[in-house]
Amino acid sequence: MLLVIREDYDAISKLASSRISDLLKKNPYAILGLATGSTPLGLYKELIRLHREEGLDFSRVQTFNLDEYVNVPREHDQSYYYFMQENLFKHINIPPDAIHMPNGMAADIEEECELYEEQIIKAGGIDLQILGIGCNGHIAFNEPYSSLGSRTRIKTLTEKTRNDNARFFKNMDEVPKYAITMGVGTIMDAKSIILMASGEKKADAIRNTVEGPITARLPATIVQMHRNATILIDKAAASQLDQSLKIAE
Ligand code: PGA
Repeated sequence: MLLVIREDYDAISKLASSRISDLLKKNPYAILGLATGSTPLGLYKELIRLHREEGLDFSRVQTFNLDEYVNVPREHDQSYYYFMQENLFKHINIPPDAIHMPNGMAADIEEECELYEEQIIKAGGIDLQILGIGCNGHIAFNEPYSSLGSRTRIKTLTEKTRNDNARFFKNMDEVPKYAITMGVGTIMDAKSIILMASGEKKADAIRNTVEGPITARLPATIVQMHRNATILIDKAAASQLDQSLKIAE
């Protein structure tokens, strides 16, 4: 596991975007694993800039997103599909059929989860997975105590997550109760991973992820076992790491 600490959010966003752009130049057919949330927004902005100003080409890539709410239509402004369209896909030259997101409106959710796993395998596996991390150590919707070997499946959102999300919906009844998420095992199958975090509120989760024992209580800790994972964080997110282990700059 490689730990990379940069000054601030902009610096980690730029570095992540250059990792993706290097990969696409080497392999225009790369399979990217993408995430929603506030953390990758700077990365997506930078990818859009690279596409517009430097011709970064997405015409042959395929993408797989980590997760999607169940029973929230794609057109809803809180669906993860909508988020990805608005913040990345509609601004780059990716063909619509190269975009894969779990379908939270599928009639048979279990079948949809199996299909998603099959689609990833059929595409040849994810070359580079972008991850954020929750303050409680979750990755995607794999909340604490998720099985570390889990595959794509339906998860019940915690009351805390539902309450946090309530502000984005008209009323509590509209707030999703379930989501489809790649499992921890699915994420670990990616050939490389970049886990990004910014800000002091993530410092505790990052300390545990980098230094702590591996535990299902903090699903992100499993990334320690990955052969090609980079923890890409800013100084604020690194502020609780064991100082004695820091290498002089
Ligand atoms: P954030 O969320 O990027 O909005 O901080 C990350 C996560 O909860 O996985």
